[in-house]
Amino acid sequence: MQAGFIGVFDSGVGGLSVLRAIRELLPAENLLYIADSAHAPYGDLTPERIRERSERITRYLVEHGAKAVVVACNTATAVAVEHLRTLYSLPIVAIEPAVKPAVHRTSSGTVGVLATSATLASPRYAALLARYGDRARVVAQACPGLVERVEQGDWEGAETRRLLQGYLAPLLAAGADQIVLGCTHYPFLRGLIEEIAGAAVEVLETGPAVAAELRRRLLAAGTLQECGRGEVRFLTSGDPQRMAAVLLRLWPEEVALEAWQE
Ligand code: DGL
Repeated sequence: MQAGFIGVFDSGVGGLSVLRAIRELLPAENLLYIADSAHAPYGDLTPERIRERSERITRYLVEHGAKAVVVACNTATAVAVEHLRTLYSLPIVAIEPAVKPAVHRTSSGTVGVLATSATLASPRYAALLARYGDRARVVAQACPGLVERVEQGDWEGAETRRLLQGYLAPLLAAGADQIVLGCTHYPFLRGLIEEIAGAAVEVLETGPAVAAELRRRLLAAGTLQECGRGEVRFLTSGDPQRMAAVLLRLWPEEVALEAWQE
């Protein structure tokens, strides 16, 4: 891909929920997506290992001519984004659980957050709570096993439903009327989450806000591409054939997927 593309990464297919928002808002941009599937789920890795993987991927994107990097992963943002920003000066747009809009929107006064264990254990999440947590009660729930269900393409099956019922129960029992999807894999479970949570509960995801922030950053840098139709390429550190089966169901356009040679 020609220099001047936008590099986007996640531990797997979850970041596609952000990539689709970027594609919709910025159709002229060339996009390169890296799924670090060989090391997923990040939520179970140590912060050091997540930082190491995020740095490796960002270095690759920068060396290959990215004009901006999007960390399409709440977990990598939570533990690695500040480190990445000390290493590289290009725009690095990241994602965090939508606690701020949720505390503004709640009527019940209780907000539920679904995220990975690593995100919820991070000082960055603690800082987010310190900033907005006094405006509402924020109840968090770690969701081990959910990322694997999404990676396997099981978005509605019995095991996924069982896991989600268990994770949502304490949030709903606490009276949450806002459920924050604090992991980019979870928007692919939105249908099931809405079904279990019921119509009175609002489900919030962050992909469109990340795309809007990316647009602002590109505009400010004078590197926004507005003419023509950009290409999208996918790389994975895992098995491309395995990822292709899920990718084809998640991505509406023709897919160019290759193995990532680190
Ligand atoms: N999709 C990622 C996130 O937003 C990573 C999940 C994982 O690999 O554990 O947190």
